[in-house]
Parts: sequence; C-alpha cells; structure tokens
Amino acid sequence: MSELHFIVNGKSVRVETDGSKPLLSVLRDDLNLRGTHFGCGTEQCGACMVLIDGKPAHSCSREAQTVAGHSITTVEGLSQNGALSPLQQAFLDEQAGQCGYCLSGILISASALLAANPAPTRAEVIAALDPHLCRCGIHNRVIRAVQKAGAAMAGAPR
Ligand code: FES
Ligand code: FES
Repeated sequence: MSELHFIVNGKSVRVETDGSKPLLSVLRDDLNLRGTHFGCGTEQCGACMVLIDGKPAHSCSREAQTVAGHSITTVEGLSQNGALSPLQQAFLDEQAGQCGYCLSGILISASALLAANPAPTRAEVIAALDPHLCRCGIHNRVIRAVQKAGAAMAGAPR
C-alpha cells in the first residue's frame, strides 16, 4: 500500500491504495467515482476513458502510481457547478444513448475534441471517437450531438 496524490476533477485527492492497481479501479473502488466503466481491460473499447492532463487516456490498463501527481478528469467532472455541460445537454437533446454503457468514455473523448476544435467536421468527430465501441448503434446521434455542442459552445444558434 502507498499513498498516492492526484488532482481529480479539480480537487486534490490523497488515497491509500495498491499503486499497481489500474487507475480505473482506484477511481471506482477507492474514490467511488463509478461513472467510468470497465469494458475489456485491454484498451479495445474506450469505456474506461478519462482525461489525464487534458488528454484522453485508457484507465483500465494504466497503473495508478504511474499517474500520481497528475490531473485526472472523469465523466463526473464534466458538469459545471452542478449543471450539465453543453456537451452533456446536447447528448440528452439528441437522445444519443441507449444502454449508456459506452457514454462516459465517449463524453470524455468528445470533450477533449471540442476543447481543441470547437467546430469539428463529421470526419473529425468520427476520428476522435474511433477508440470507442458502442453496441447499441447510436453513432449518428453521437456525431450530431458533438457537433451541436460545439456550435452551442461557440454561441451559434442550436
Ligand atoms: S475497459 Fe479500457 S479500453 Fe475497454
Ligand atoms: S449506448 Fe449502449 S453501448 Fe453505447
């Protein structure tokens, strides 16, 4: 056991844990942040995606101790002062989800895309979300939601 320090969703966090555990396990089991999901454990599905220092990263295969001291954002950190972010609102508006299992990871990658490129083309959205598997066939609605959120964030009419 060791004490690890992270910035999680903007807050300084210390946790006594086995540092060789996957970051995903520390987030879910030690910090009770259950929005990030386990799918495959082998970087094949994207369900476990979080932001590490603002960049999408799989949390299933990364030892927690390797990101100690870094800033981590989970899906719980995307809301703003308790309100849905424009991205989350756009997913709701477009009903871009069915079972929802894949959505936390998709929202994380989409938020990184929009931070870098608020007006992505359809092809750019598809490329950014390529690491994510969704079995429910919501792809077109997801793409629409991401582009709609970008427009909303840029102040364009929705
Ligand atoms: S659980 Fe990490 S990529 Fe599938
Ligand atoms: S909404 Fe069910 S896996 Fe994507």
